[in-house]
Amino acid sequence: MKVVTILFILLFMPVMSRAQAPDGKALYTSDCIACHAADGSGNTVLGRQLLPHPARDLRPRILSRKEIRQTIMHGRQKTGMHPHAGKLAPLAVDRLIDYILSFSYRARPERGRKLFGQQCARCHGADAKGRSYPGAPNLILSELSDIGMAHVIRHGHAGTIMGGFKAELSNAEIADTIVWLKLRRYRLDSNPSLAH
Ligand code: HEC
Ligand code: HEC
Repeated sequence: MKVVTILFILLFMPVMSRAQAPDGKALYTSDCIACHAADGSGNTVLGRQLLPHPARDLRPRILSRKEIRQTIMHGRQKTGMHPHAGKLAPLAVDRLIDYILSFSYRARPERGRKLFGQQCARCHGADAKGRSYPGAPNLILSELSDIGMAHVIRHGHAGTIMGGFKAELSNAEIADTIVWLKLRRYRLDSNPSLAH
C-alpha cells in the first residue's frame, strides 16, 4: 500500500506542481489583455479610451523589471492602471514580467531621428552632440543604458531644464529615438538596411 502511495506521489507531483506554478500568459490574458492587448500594444477599444491616459505600449523594452513590478503592484495613481498587490503573489508578478518582456517591438530609427529633430534638437543639437544649449549633454556619448535614457526622457531630470516627455511621446516613439541615438553612437545610422 505504502509503495503505491509513494508511486502515486512520484507520478503526479510534477503534474500538480506544474499546474500550480503561475503562468504569465494566462495571467496576462485574464487580467491585462482588455487594456494592453494580446500583443502588448495597448491597442484595444478600452485601452485607447482610458482617461486621463491611455494604456501604454508594453512592447518596447524601455522599463526596468523594478519599474514594471512597481507598476503592477501599486498601479499608477489616478489612471486606469490599478494596483494588483493584493491580488497577485510575488511569483505571479515575476511570471507576468517575464511574459511582458517576451513581447517584441521593431524600432523605427528613422522616425526617431525626425522626433529628435522636433522635440530635442533645440537643446541637444540636431546631431545630438549637445552644442545648442549650455548644459544639454552630448547624447551620443551618454553613458546611460537604453533603460536609463528612457527614464530621463519619460520623467525628465528634476531641477534641470530637461523636462519629461511621457505625455508627448509614446513608448514606441521613445524607443525609436533611443535606437536612433545608439545607432549614431556606433555610426550605423546611415546603414540603409537599418533605417526604414
Ligand atoms: C483597466 C485598464 C488596465 C488594466 C486591466 C491593466 N492596465 Fe496596465 N496600464 C493601464 C494604463 C492606463 C496605464 C498607463 C498609466 C500611466 O499613464 O502612467 C498602464 C500602465 C502599465 C504599465 C507601465 C507602462 C509604462 O510605460 O509606464 C505596466 C507595466 C502595466 N500597465 C502592466 C499591466 C499588467 C501586467 C496588467 C495586468 C495585471 C495591467 N497592466 C492591467 C491600464 C490598465
Ligand atoms: C529645454 C532643453 C531640453 C530639451 C528640449 C531636451 N533636453 Fe534632454 N537634457 C537637457 C539638459 C539641460 C540635460 C542635462 C540635465 C542634467 O544636468 O542632469 C538633459 C539630459 C538628457 C539626458 C540624460 C543624458 C545623460 O547622459 O545624463 C537624456 C537621455 C536626454 N536629455 C534626452 C533628451 C531627449 C531624447 C529629448 C527629446 C525628446 C530631450 N532630451 C529634450 C535639456 C533638454
